[in-house]
Amino acid sequence: MIVLGIETSCDETAAAVVTDRREVLADLVLSQLAEHRPYGGVVPEIAARSHLDHLDRLIGEAMAKAGLTFGELDAIAATGGTGLIGGVIVGVTMAKAIAAVHRLPFLAVNHLEGHALSARLVEDLPFPYLLLLVSGGHCQLLLVEGVGRYRRLGTTVDDAAGEAFDKTAKLLGLGYPGGPAVEQAATRAAARAIAAGEGAAKGGGQAVRDRFDLPRPMRGRQGCDFSFSGLKTAVRQRVAALAAASPDGRLSDTDRDDLAAAFQAAVADSIADRVANAIDLARESAPIGALVVAGGVAANAYLRARLEQAARLGNLRLVAPPARLCTDNAAMIAWAGIERLRLGQRDDLDFAPRPRWPLDPTAPKAVGAGVKA
Ligand code: KG4
Ligand code: ZN
Repeated sequence: MIVLGIETSCDETAAAVVTDRREVLADLVLSQLAEHRPYGGVVPEIAARSHLDHLDRLIGEAMAKAGLTFGELDAIAATGGTGLIGGVIVGVTMAKAIAAVHRLPFLAVNHLEGHALSARLVEDLPFPYLLLLVSGGHCQLLLVEGVGRYRRLGTTVDDAAGEAFDKTAKLLGLGYPGGPAVEQAATRAAARAIAAGEGAAKGGGQAVRDRFDLPRPMRGRQGCDFSFSGLKTAVRQRVAALAAASPDGRLSDTDRDDLAAAFQAAVADSIADRVANAIDLARESAPIGALVVAGGVAANAYLRARLEQAARLGNLRLVAPPARLCTDNAAMIAWAGIERLRLGQRDDLDFAPRPRWPLDPTAPKAVGAGVKA
């Protein structure tokens, strides 16, 4: 079984060709980072136009790399939501056109389902498992019981984890996208602390991480929901205090890096606490064997180390797909298409793109939740 996957729901134009034997024959991702950077975030209209400009060529390149013609495919899968609707329409329309011309099955894949099943593209991971999805748009804990069977255990009541990293980076003047910049700053802070004599035996940089006494949102609270907006406010206050105390009204490089390290530690502590609750909750209804982490924030090495710890305490294996498969890509969309196709599923060509598409429509709203799924 060979499937072409298309992903256009945010700021990556992506096309991939994947087989049901876990072979990735092509996996192309074109980032629009440079186009959005001047605005400090993703501009939906620019994103949609850019997908339109590049998707055609990218699909051609993916097919050439796989050495296949459209007629040799078994299906076309495209992200049908959630995401920025202009981009989703571009991808879905393209996929439908190819499917119609070559008389192939079309699958509209839920972007979140792509993330949820991505670990199974790497290894033969049995259901059920616990999934932590941490990206720029989402922060959720899900019990993955099977293809199409998801139970949401927790979600964020305000910002997504990646959003918190991006906003903090902005506050610290670290640029866009914020996640990798905050992680680099935190790593510099830890390295400075070790060089200054704080031994690696103490975890290298513990004093730095404790320096600002940032809150650990939701820690100790019941349930598995997340919150990051209070932490962001605390960072803003520390930045203002440091700037006021500095002779030139600006943060020193050391202060900035230390604050980044403190923020990263607070996010990781908060997430680890929520994950521990989710492990207990999931166990009440399913014999889970693994904690899977996906989404762009999963690229963060400090967070991974904290999750490794949380998994060990809960007697679970941590499965973290390679960073390339954690951030937005089309291989995970093709794979989710294969998983559904194997179950005999396909979608009609009149499928309407969905800006919101929760994996678990029955999940109660998070306490204090706004509009986020
Ligand atoms: O999954 P993704 O590529 O796109 C979606 O949001 O769907 O995730 C992007 C997010 C951004 O917020 C980015 O700042 C964050 O993931 N991110 C990181 C790191 N790399 C990317 N956050 C923390 N540490 C990182 N190393
Ligand atoms: Zn994503």
